[in-house]
Amino acid sequence: MKSTIVLPVDPATPDPALIQEAALILRRGGLVAFPTETVYGLGANALDGEAVQGIFVAKGRPAYDPLIVHLADCEALPQVVADVPSVAYTLAARFWPGPLTLVLPRSQHVPLVVTAGGPTVAVRVPAHPVALALIRAAGFPLAAPSANRFGHLSPTQAIHVLDDLDGCIDMVLDGGPAPVGVESTVLSLVMPVPTILRPGGISREALEAALGAVQMAAQPFSIAETLTSPGTLMKHYAPRARLTLYRGSRDAVLPVMREVALYSAERGQRVGLLLAEEDLPAFSGVPATVQTVGTGGALEEVARQLFAALRALDHADVTAILARDFGAAGLGLAIRDRLTRAAAGNVVDVE
Ligand code: TXA
Ligand code: MG
Repeated sequence: MKSTIVLPVDPATPDPALIQEAALILRRGGLVAFPTETVYGLGANALDGEAVQGIFVAKGRPAYDPLIVHLADCEALPQVVADVPSVAYTLAARFWPGPLTLVLPRSQHVPLVVTAGGPTVAVRVPAHPVALALIRAAGFPLAAPSANRFGHLSPTQAIHVLDDLDGCIDMVLDGGPAPVGVESTVLSLVMPVPTILRPGGISREALEAALGAVQMAAQPFSIAETLTSPGTLMKHYAPRARLTLYRGSRDAVLPVMREVALYSAERGQRVGLLLAEEDLPAFSGVPATVQTVGTGGALEEVARQLFAALRALDHADVTAILARDFGAAGLGLAIRDRLTRAAAGNVVDVE
């Protein structure tokens, strides 16, 4: 096992000498984890099939799950995409750099290992100075999935990357916590109607305002159904404890969660609760490990803290996690999506 170098960098104005060090590793075909605005990515030279293969090995990721290619700007699109449609430039002008990934026809310069053998390639320009500086210094696009072991929670801090991949990758650039906290929205532009394959940091409402009609892909429950976007597999982002997601109005949901928490604790379960700060009084006297994720009125904060809170509950060694839902408006949809997957479909609708 090699040892992983951890390099702290200033997230706003990264030292060019440190970025060069990381770029050198990438040029030699190595693997560097780096912060993006959404989550930490595990980067390799997207145009070097052997380097990209290393990502799949380090993550334990199955070869059928394609990777996102990260560009420094939309001028690089023709390098990796065949026939860029004008709508891609329209969306790029509106949302890049930012948490929107576009699925477009693959150019033959992109090795098939990146696209899992498929005819399309996913691309985005991340809104993080460290990510952008690294892509520019490398001089090639970076293929980068979230920097976690396959099926684990996405990392929003460098320490999460080390928890999963220490010794398996060459370097982590530590630029502090990721400011968005949930992954990018994946939008397919190769279907008759633009289709959201994964809700994320750019809301459905914002895409509809820019495009008109936008469709949601059906949520797959089995591998056979996931061929258009394998990463949307139902059991993904999973903590070890069994997680149950409670959906419904807050007034209806909290008393039910309280009853279940008390009942579970009485029967010897170690209960974990994922709540908003304002929910705490409803659980007074309940023996549980609590993680709060900001307030339900500020979904940016909830998204930012979500994965770290789930990781903390995992480390607290609870056996049952009860999580509340945050609605489907704006970032709520991405939050609900990640919690539903963490619950492996174990969702209770109250009312
Ligand atoms: O915010 C993000 O998107 C982060 C940061 C690092 O950029 N990356 C990320 O990558 O979440 P990953 O590999 O964990 O998730 C990529 C998602 C998966 O659901 C994958 O199946 C989908 O994008 N995807 C990649 N290429 C695709 C393609 N050609 N067609 C359809 N879906 C694709
Ligand atoms: Mg991932």
